[in-house]
Amino acid sequence: MCGIVGYVGKNQNSLSVLIEGLKSLEYRGYDSAGIAINNQGRIKIIKSVGNIANLERKLDKKILSNLGIGHTRWATHGKPCLKNAHPHQVGKVTLVHNGIIENYEKLKKSLQDEGYKFKTDTDTEVACALMDKIYKETNDKLLTMQKVKEMIEGSYALAIIFADDIKNLYAMRKDSPLIIALGKDENYLASDVPAILQFTDKYILLEKNEYAIINALNVKVYDNNFKEIKKQILTYEGSREVAMKNGYEHFMLKEINDEPMVIKATYEQFINKNLKELIDNMPDLAKYNNIDIVACGSAYHAGLVGKSLIEEYANIPVKVELASEYRYKKNFGNDSTLTILVSQSGETADTLAALRKAKKEKSATLGIINVVSSSIAREADNVLYTKAGAEISVATTKAYLSQVLMLALIAINKAFVNGNISSKEEKDLLEDMQKLPQEITSLINRKDEFASIAKQIYHNNDVFFIGRGIDYALSREGALKLKEISYIHAEAYAAGELKHGTISLIENKTPVIAIVTDETIAEKTISNIKEVKARGADVTFITTESLNKKYAQSDFYDRKIVVPSTNKFFQALLTIIPLQLLAYEVAKLRGENIDKPRNLAKSVTVE
Ligand code: F6R
Repeated sequence: MCGIVGYVGKNQNSLSVLIEGLKSLEYRGYDSAGIAINNQGRIKIIKSVGNIANLERKLDKKILSNLGIGHTRWATHGKPCLKNAHPHQVGKVTLVHNGIIENYEKLKKSLQDEGYKFKTDTDTEVACALMDKIYKETNDKLLTMQKVKEMIEGSYALAIIFADDIKNLYAMRKDSPLIIALGKDENYLASDVPAILQFTDKYILLEKNEYAIINALNVKVYDNNFKEIKKQILTYEGSREVAMKNGYEHFMLKEINDEPMVIKATYEQFINKNLKELIDNMPDLAKYNNIDIVACGSAYHAGLVGKSLIEEYANIPVKVELASEYRYKKNFGNDSTLTILVSQSGETADTLAALRKAKKEKSATLGIINVVSSSIAREADNVLYTKAGAEISVATTKAYLSQVLMLALIAINKAFVNGNISSKEEKDLLEDMQKLPQEITSLINRKDEFASIAKQIYHNNDVFFIGRGIDYALSREGALKLKEISYIHAEAYAAGELKHGTISLIENKTPVIAIVTDETIAEKTISNIKEVKARGADVTFITTESLNKKYAQSDFYDRKIVVPSTNKFFQALLTIIPLQLLAYEVAKLRGENIDKPRNLAKSVTVE
């Protein structure tokens, strides 16, 4: 949700560093972009509407500059247009901002009363004017940042240039991420690690109530009392290639192809030879009587799969809540509740707020997080890391899959502790788990089969996904994937609920994707499929090898996708792969911008 990058160095290459950094942050927003650079002692600002490529076209590559800040925007206040693009400049202050200044209207009014005039519709320009006013009063940059922090409400990461000190970059943050990366004779600022990986793998995390002053040779971080802090230097341990496409046409496709590796890396953290290892390597889950899973979007859908597994096989009640709802309602958590926050980025504003609320209500908290040391990872009582690596495509695939696996492992852990897994089942389960990477690979290799099914679907305006239980949870993710990247209206429905209203939308050739992998209720769902088929629906039937034997000759579908049968804990991990690839192929046929769908951003750090 907006990406920030900053550079200061002995070399004169700030232009290329800013552009390359912004390109790898484009997943955070791409409504408009801009940079501010030191151009022979003066600050030059260049902005453009749209993505970084548009900005790049406007730049004179010959300009040499040793310092600059850049921004790629996901609009919150004010429409995406040139004047609202960052950086903003008022008086001596030029800055870029990620987050939302909640009290900007009140601040704007009082600044207007003091004579400030505003050129944009943004909250950021207000923060910029406020900083200029206070700097004029104090003539002290650290004190200015501290006073501004006390006056603004909301979330922010700010990278700042003061016109009378073009040797240094200044930075501060609250609830929006910001790292300072360390190079040789040059240092960087960024919203996220991928932005700096091509230059360095060393970085430090800036925390709230900290202020940074950065030049080519030094990084100094101060606490709220202006005492210098010695920060821990972290090293990025993932591979640099993960942040690149590796020859795939889209990041989404590359990330789907990463899935076998991600699954293996995720389970191998906990379990290799027996289920006892799982208990030894995970935080103690035995003491909780009920679980709340709180998340947004696809992470919420992963939570729905987790609920099915934990309730069914570990016999413990689970509530799954949307973080944006949870944070404003009564939740009945107590000290025997475990609240699990699921988030790829670990920065999603609603999920972070839900975590804080759960802690206040005395529930234990556990983050299932992909980005190491992100806000939720740091604030939760315990954290389990999904090993998906950097995910760049806005539509999640591999991170979702690793979230589902992590919740399945929690279900297995609880079921094992409760004595619900026999030693024969344990052996089968471990064997099935080790087969998953190969089975996922074999599904990915069937891409052409899904591409030909996509041809039957891509010209439609509406698609329905139906299933029961865990298959309904998968339907919801399948529908979200399709709608967000192809812009086809897609709706997931619990198969048994259709006849209470929605079936009236089914007419001749309406596409219905029907998922049936749960043998215990297969007959019931198949009755519902027959109901839509009888009304003319065009049915794509997704089922398992073992159920396919039973329904091989049936006439209630137009085509089918058969996925390998696996252990009940892992079936969802295989069934979702064709749905991800189907969405990808449909979006490709429609010529959409697959990695960067309109109106979306990857890390949603606003409420
Ligand atoms: C959809 C998608 C989003 C995210 C949601 C939560 O493809 O990626 O729905 O799942 O915004 O994000 P995280 O997991 O970062 O909290």
